[in-house]
Parts: sequence; structure tokens; C-alpha cells
Amino acid sequence: MSVKKIGIIGTGTMGHGIAQVAACSGFEVLIKDINEERTQKAAGQIEKNWAKLIEKGKIPAEQAETAKKRLKVCAQTADFADCDLIIEAITENEQVKKDLFKELNGVVKKEALFATNTSSISITLLATASGRPAQFVGMHFFNPVPVMKLVEIIRGLSTSDETYKIAFAVAETLGKTAIAVQDKPAFAVNRLLIPMINEAFVALEEGVADAKAIDAAMQLGCNHPMGPLTLADFVGLDVALAAMEVMHRNLGDKYKPSVLLRKYVESGRLGRKTGRGVYDYSEQK
Ligand code: 3HC
Repeated sequence: MSVKKIGIIGTGTMGHGIAQVAACSGFEVLIKDINEERTQKAAGQIEKNWAKLIEKGKIPAEQAETAKKRLKVCAQTADFADCDLIIEAITENEQVKKDLFKELNGVVKKEALFATNTSSISITLLATASGRPAQFVGMHFFNPVPVMKLVEIIRGLSTSDETYKIAFAVAETLGKTAIAVQDKPAFAVNRLLIPMINEAFVALEEGVADAKAIDAAMQLGCNHPMGPLTLADFVGLDVALAAMEVMHRNLGDKYKPSVLLRKYVESGRLGRKTGRGVYDYSEQK
């Protein structure tokens, strides 16, 4: 089985980034979000990103033109029927993801593979809910997808060798470096990254330093490209909290979410996407 057509469900930051890279790498791509307006908006964003890349001389105009033809939007889950691989990049909610995969299982051709871009939910759990556990794998991309080189490939308990191999091959075609990661809470990157972000919120709450100083500490003291609080705003505070909660539930109190992080999420301060997180982005909207 070789993958030619990829369906991507969820066209937020991660989903549209994956779609952009996939269409540019030669795959037929079909995208869908919760409504047509959001899907069209994502398609528009991808086109803008290609225009910027052409302007910078990063890709030839013809490559973007061909990629554009390969990218299609759709309105119904049933439209994914002939996709070879479906990558789910929707909201980080276990039940919503389970329901989606269950629905997909009823409409997508039997040999198709399912992948989830979840940042922390058990692959085995979602694979079971999907009804096709052998054809299910985790493919965890990083934000911004066109820039970040890594994909974590996570194998559920029943993921077949063939599915696993295909996931590596797809990642390679996308120009990414794939690493094998076990199905443990938050996988490898987020197991290390999210507790650091969480600790930055604890430090902020305790008054160790102010937000800008905490960010400067890690940027200038450790050469991180972004400070942890800026990075939290970039990935979404809700995403960071969800990953922390998974680790807390499965790995114990060492991973207890910061009270301040939770308060920000409860107040709708989710980061760049809502215009405010640790920092205020309302002027930039
Ligand atoms: N999409 C596409 N390209 C982007 C981009 C975006 N959203 N943001 C920046 N870029 C490109 C720029 O166009 C530029 O390209 P060029 O070198 O060809 O001109 C290049 O990236 C560098 O961008 P800038 O000069 O504007 O800014 P920086 O040098 O500060 O880089 C960054 C921006 C790449 C985002 C850098 O700050 C960075 O690496 N930050 C850390 C990102 C990170 O840690 N990501 C992982 C998050 S965890 C995650 O995603 C997992 C999830 O499960 C939580």
C-alpha cells in the first residue's frame, strides 16, 4: 500500500501546516474543519504562505502552483472515502477524537490508515476507538510545521509493522526526520518541553522573576529560540494544560499543572490564537 492521497481533519495551526507541506511534497491533499468558512480560511492561509515562500525565493512559483492544484477543501467526512491516509489534527479532546475516528471508520476505504497528531493522548486508546487499531499510528508534528524538522512516530499496542513503516515513509517524503517513540504519556518532546513550560508558570506565580525576565533567562541563558512563556502563547495554553493533565493523571504529582496556567486557560487567555495569553497580542490582530 502506498500513500498518494492524504486527508487532513482540523485546519488550525497544525493541520494547515501539515496540509501545506504535504501538498508541496507531492501528495493529493483534502482538508476539512468544523465548517466550510474555517476550511476556506485555512486554504487561504496556505496560499499566502506559499506566496511568501515564492517571494523569498524558497520555492519556485511552479511548485506552489502545482501544490495548489493538489490541495482541495471538502465539507463532509464522507468525502475522505478514497484517502489512503487520514491525519487528524483537531482539538485536544479525547472524546471528540474518539468520535471522529469512529465516524471515519464507517466511511473511509478499508485499507486506509489513520494517524493522529495528538500531543499527549494515548495512541492505543484512540486506535481502539477507531475500530482499526492495526492501521492506526501517532504522527506528532511540531509548530510551525513547515519549519520544524521533527515528526514523532508513535506506535500503539496493535499498530502493525506495515502501518509503522508507511508512517516513516510518509514523514520522509514530507522532508521530515522521524523518530520512533513509545506510546507513553506526552511521548518524547512534550514529556520534556511541557513540564518546562509549566515550571515557567510556577516561577511566574511565585514571583521568581517577571514574564519577560523568565523568557530572557531561557533565551539568553540557554539559547532557546523562544522563552517558555512566549512558547506557551505560541503553542496554546490550553494545549500545554491538556498535555500536563495527561502526564499528571498517568505519571503522578511531579507533573501537577500550575494553578496560574489553569487560571489563564479558564479565563480564555489561550495565547496568540485568542489575542492574549501571558502576553497581549490584541494590537497585532
Ligand atoms: N510558518 C512558516 N514559517 C515560519 C513561521 C510559520 N508560522 N514562523 C516563522 N517561520 C519561518 C520564517 O519565515 C523564517 O524563514 P526564513 O529563515 O526562510 O526567512 C524562519 O522561520 C525564522 O523565522 P523568524 O526569523 O521570523 O523568527 P525566528 O528566527 O524567531 O524563528 C521560530 C521563528 C522558527 C518559530 C523560532 O522562534 C522557533 O524555533 N521557536 C520554537 C518553536 C518550537 O519550539 N516549536 C515546538 C513547539 S511544541 C509543539 O509544536 C508540539 C505541540 O504538541 C505542543
